[in-house]
Amino acid sequence: MKDTVNKSLKLEKPLILTGFMGSGKSSVGKILAERLGRRFIDLDTEIVAASGCSINDIFARAGQESFRILESSHLKKVLLSGQNLVISTGGGAVISKENRALMHSIGIIINLKVTVEQVMSRLKGCSDRPLLSGEDAVDHAEILLKQREQFYSAADIRIDTNGKSVEDVAAVIQCCLEGFSE
Ligand code: S3P
Repeated sequence: MKDTVNKSLKLEKPLILTGFMGSGKSSVGKILAERLGRRFIDLDTEIVAASGCSINDIFARAGQESFRILESSHLKKVLLSGQNLVISTGGGAVISKENRALMHSIGIIINLKVTVEQVMSRLKGCSDRPLLSGEDAVDHAEILLKQREQFYSAADIRIDTNGKSVEDVAAVIQCCLEGFSE
């Protein structure tokens, strides 16, 4: 895949990383924020801190729908909290039409593209992704990735992470952002 960039971007906006579980959003986001002198916010970390529960516990006790409500309300709060930010969203934040509209109106959306093979290899041994915890994790990842592709692909900048380290991905994003009007 060729990386894609919407050249009409203005930079004085929060940078919002989207992508499937295991695409490297948090690692890339931290590096990018440091290199750009921005504050880094991980949406799942915010939700866990505010609720006092792990993502697994929220899914187990309250269900996915309740998690999505929390996710939307934290996304809104974070997006309205400033411009000089790099925000890493959970892989499912793009499912909601309202979330997508808000992200597009306030920030620059940067999607990290991954394959199911990459996801499964990166998340091997991880037990903190409730949606990929069953025996059918690979099939489920394939279905979710296919369902979400239309939303991930609507990003302003899209980077194929295949064969790239997190540092490489951050560097490619920096290159994409260079030359845009401040
Ligand atoms: C989810 C992704 C997770 C987390 C939750 C649901 C999803 O975040 O928000 O487990 O629906 O794809 P990461 O993408 O950071 O793993």
